Amino acid sequence: MKISRFGKKIAEKSGIGQLMDDLAQAFLYSEQILMLGGGNPAHIPEVQQYFRKSMTALLENEGDFERAVGNYDPSQGNTAFIEATCKLLRKEFDWDIKPKNIALTNGSQSAFFILFNIFAGEFEDGSRKKILLPLAPEYIGYCDVGLVEDLFTSSKPEIEHIDEHIFKYHIDFDKISVTEDIGAICVSRPTNPTGNVLTDFEIEKLGDLAQAHDIPLIIDNAYGTPFPNIIFTDVKPIWNPQTIVIMSLSKLGLPATRTGIVIADEKIISIVSKANAVISLAPPGLGAAIATSLVRSGDIIRLSRDIIRPFYQTKANEALKQLTGFLDGTDFHIHKPEGAIFLWLWLRDLPITSAELYERLKKRGVLVVPGHYFFPGLKEKWRHKNECIRINYSQDEKTVASGLKIIAEEVKRAYRTT
Ligand SMILES: Cc1ncc(COP(=O)(O)O)c(C=O)c1O
Repeated sequence: MKISRFGKKIAEKSGIGQLMDDLAQAFLYSEQILMLGGGNPAHIPEVQQYFRKSMTALLENEGDFERAVGNYDPSQGNTAFIEATCKLLRKEFDWDIKPKNIALTNGSQSAFFILFNIFAGEFEDGSRKKILLPLAPEYIGYCDVGLVEDLFTSSKPEIEHIDEHIFKYHIDFDKISVTEDIGAICVSRPTNPTGNVLTDFEIEKLGDLAQAHDIPLIIDNAYGTPFPNIIFTDVKPIWNPQTIVIMSLSKLGLPATRTGIVIADEKIISIVSKANAVISLAPPGLGAAIATSLVRSGDIIRLSRDIIRPFYQTKANEALKQLTGFLDGTDFHIHKPEGAIFLWLWLRDLPITSAELYERLKKRGVLVVPGHYFFPGLKEKWRHKNECIRINYSQDEKTVASGLKIIAEEVKRAYRTT
């Protein structure tokens, strides 16, 4: 059996593949494994109650359930959900959007697959373009979505040391240049894996660059405002026809429903809808059916603001305090947690690679994600790439505390004995 170049590319060992395999393993052996890898959000009882109530109403209202599971949605996505989301975003942020500016996708992951391959790759005139990630580290899930090799280019950040153990990345605007071969700019905000939130100034400057070169600025808002709102700093959410904002219901607590939301100029929405039709006929509709009533009532905003954000902020503070205590006496640095669900730990001059640390931790039953996967498009050698790990702090207190303790033990052992 022969496999095409595409087949080989998609099946080769990838960071996101390893991450999903680890999630599956953790699910099978949940008793023995402390799952601080992967991107699963927490199960927050108050939030789950809302989903249960909405699902119950769907089941009890004659015909609603049958319609939700018995029909294909339009390839643009569930109309009622799109209309409700449009209204909500107009009201919250005063964005000048209409329902034709929104499409749903099979999780936001597949929105990136579609968009990156629309704006980068091979063009009719024979030229090739790339996606510019102005700051690496950046989301592991972008790395392998290109239909062609070498889809990304990115830059090393500036590092601000806020105190002895806390640092923050900033975009180094002197290092990035938008040349002819850049097809779009993309950032996640808050950033997975670091918990960084790019400042309004940085976003404005990227917007200006996008405008000046007539390319889109893609803002991955998977953790951002107004939902799930896992963001601990106040920022100004922007949208204009040059900007593509991508949202998701996953981190709200509905990852299994695979619901991504693209907000863009209508010409782009039309392409995304057509891509949906080709790839999967229509995006999944069950998440939209469950969430529509929450969006219409505005409960999604209240849940995100009053329950989800404080929940994760408390967990972030707690994890930060514990890890800082456990690592006392070590040259460690943690990115300031400003959002998302991770701590990004930088171990300067670690004598082993983060991949080796990951293996050692796995042997001790703790799963994290080694940092080297989070530098798509950054070709230059940089020791930092192998000195970091991503730790998901969204699991229950006991799991997180036990995991952090073992991480600290292994880190100290690595500094001591290697
Ligand atoms: C920054 C970021 N973007 C996009 C995604 C994809 O999420 P989903 O496909 O579940 O919407 C994730 C998932 O972890 C993420 O962290």
